[in-house]
Amino acid sequence: MMDLTGKSKEKYVKETFNRISEKYDFMNRMMSFGLDRFWRKKVVKIVRAKTGMKILDVCCGTGMLTIELAKKVGSSGRVIGLDFSENMLEQARKNISVLPEKENITFIQGDALQLPFEDNSFDGATIGWGLRNLSSIKSGIQEMRRVVKPGSLVVSIDMGKPSWPIFKQLYWFAFEKVVPFLGKVGAGGKQEEYKYLYQSALVFESQQELAEIFANCGLQNTGYINLVGGAVSIVYGMK
Ligand SMILES: C[S@@+](CC[C@H](N)C(=O)[O-])C[C@H]1O[C@@H](n2cnc3c(N)ncnc32)[C@H](O)[C@@H]1O
Repeated sequence: MMDLTGKSKEKYVKETFNRISEKYDFMNRMMSFGLDRFWRKKVVKIVRAKTGMKILDVCCGTGMLTIELAKKVGSSGRVIGLDFSENMLEQARKNISVLPEKENITFIQGDALQLPFEDNSFDGATIGWGLRNLSSIKSGIQEMRRVVKPGSLVVSIDMGKPSWPIFKQLYWFAFEKVVPFLGKVGAGGKQEEYKYLYQSALVFESQQELAEIFANCGLQNTGYINLVGGAVSIVYGMK
């Protein structure tokens, strides 16, 4: 097992995403069988993004969720995408360069555990496949809660833990053995990157546990929505 704690995790995560930034979108699409676009739209709905709103997308990576949010808030709204990897942000800037949404998106390099924003300044906050990568899940949620206005939602989408028997076993087997092979052959990634993905998902809190952490961080009406049998899950709570 790799050391997935504290500063060494942060360093490893940053280096990994800086290295894979150019092939990240392709890997993502391939591993989700193209479903990630549909999942992102679901997050936009759950965070209740509306025309004119100002939304924060933490751990925005290459900006795929940021773009979906920007489409929803329209030209009178604003979406801020924050990430600590300069190469993921560079890819994000490339991704929006040809889109009309580029006018209402701002990408900022920063730390999810110390958001450079005032309290109560956003109409909602999202984090896509980001919590699992943080050295402190709780601090990440607390920071998102701090910067959203009362009544606004904090929403995370990430790997979940399927609970159906048989599907559950098949899922973890495929994740450990098949995905690294396909990834290496299809996207040219290193086995180690997929090993991290597997290990980080394995030690990550289940959707039930995560919803409890959301509540312990002071969010209300917390809950989760399972996608693909709980292999992916959206967890939410209101400030
Ligand atoms: C799996 S990617 C998700 C990208 C994007 N949200 C998406 O939906 O495809 C995780 C991202 O989290 C970022 N990240 C991890 N820890 C972070 C931290 N402490 N502060 C800011 N960004 C962080 C990584 O650089 C990476 O771009």
